[in-house]
Amino acid sequence: MDDLSTIRSEALGAVEKAADLAALDAVRVAVLGKKGSVTGLMKTLGTLAPEQRKEFGAKVNQLKGEIETALESRKSALGASALAAKLASEKIDVSLPVRPETRGTLHPIGQVMDELAAIFGEMGFTWADGPDIEDDWHNFSALNIPPDHPARQMQDTFYLPPRADGTPMVLRTHTSPVQARTMLNKDVQKMLADGGALRIIVPGRTFRIDNDATHTPMFHQVEGLVIDRTTHMGHLKGCLHDFCRAFFEVDVLPIRFRPSYFPFTEPSAEVDIGCSWKGGELQIGAGDSWLEILGSGMVHPNVIANCGLDPAVYQGFAFGMGIDRIAMLKYGIPDLRDFFASDLRWLRHYGFSALEGVAR
Ligand code: PHE
Repeated sequence: MDDLSTIRSEALGAVEKAADLAALDAVRVAVLGKKGSVTGLMKTLGTLAPEQRKEFGAKVNQLKGEIETALESRKSALGASALAAKLASEKIDVSLPVRPETRGTLHPIGQVMDELAAIFGEMGFTWADGPDIEDDWHNFSALNIPPDHPARQMQDTFYLPPRADGTPMVLRTHTSPVQARTMLNKDVQKMLADGGALRIIVPGRTFRIDNDATHTPMFHQVEGLVIDRTTHMGHLKGCLHDFCRAFFEVDVLPIRFRPSYFPFTEPSAEVDIGCSWKGGELQIGAGDSWLEILGSGMVHPNVIANCGLDPAVYQGFAFGMGIDRIAMLKYGIPDLRDFFASDLRWLRHYGFSALEGVAR
């Protein structure tokens, strides 16, 4: 019995004296661990007679509970004072100036896409997308370019392995396949049947086998498409006039429509803007030179029929423009390849602050 009260006072005294959590844990091991003093008492139970065992066992259990409670309360007291000490020693200086952050910039291509979306958005166009990996039918056949048509050689195509079902695949050579994808959409067809008008722009990546200062294997185009029952060539001219003046920010901009040929438009026209090269520097809107910026025309009736619409009812215009090209002209960027070289110095120089950007 003496043993019991000695162990009790020693254990509780040690708990009280433990100065930190590590010391407290050492006490716990010394008392309740495998070789601990109280654990040692438990082990002697087997040597006692049954009545003694019952009485002594209850006492040892009670002692064990008492020590466990003491350990718990000392533990939370030590924890609280450790936290208080930490809080007192660590202060946050809210008056310290923030670390300077380097801001990223918008790539000129993204900036120009935003500008396109803002200008055409005001005219009622919405943004449409399509896949970069396209099947031969959407990229060519639907657009009135059958398999043996010489126009296929006009575009230096990257051919991909065919799909498992034999469908020939390409990297899209222009954004025009999205014309077909959109006209074929059942919701669009219903909207048109209900008397609505389709007006989309399709900014996106395009691919052709080509590589020099003004051509890269991957480049960007924006397609435009308007389909309803009454849109005519006059609307095409008005729309592109307004766009060119807004985009190049020149009020009096000479614009020339030159007859041209595309399999998917009839009639077709290429559009040039007036410029001068005085002193070797390009000035848009002045002088007597011309710069070609886009292809356009009235959507060919075959294309409308291929896309499941009646060409006797529906008509409209389409255009396609190189985004990289108009970005180079507007922002005076001499080499197309620099767009894709990811040179940080170039990006900082030609990039745009996000705050200047037009919301997409
Ligand atoms: N898809 C044509 C090209 O890439 C451009 C274009 C689009 C021409 C729409 C007319 C109408 O060359």
